[in-house]
Amino acid sequence: MTIDMVVCHCNLIREKDIRAAARRGCPDAETAYRSLGCQFQCGGCEDHADALVLSERAQLLAPRDVAAA
Ligand code: FES
Repeated sequence: MTIDMVVCHCNLIREKDIRAAARRGCPDAETAYRSLGCQFQCGGCEDHADALVLSERAQLLAPRDVAAA
């Protein structure tokens, strides 16, 4: 079971929304937030949100496990 945590309490943005924005091509959290119609307010979530975007994009760009295919 995946827990969908709120990452940004100022904008009520959830982890799944940030990951989806990264998959759509947003290269960083600032761009991801703008794609969701928001922007940083207090900035307290920025490092975590950036890490989520990087993590999601790394998964997209990682070589596929051909043995599992
Ligand atoms: S918690 Fe995201 S801008 Fe404040």
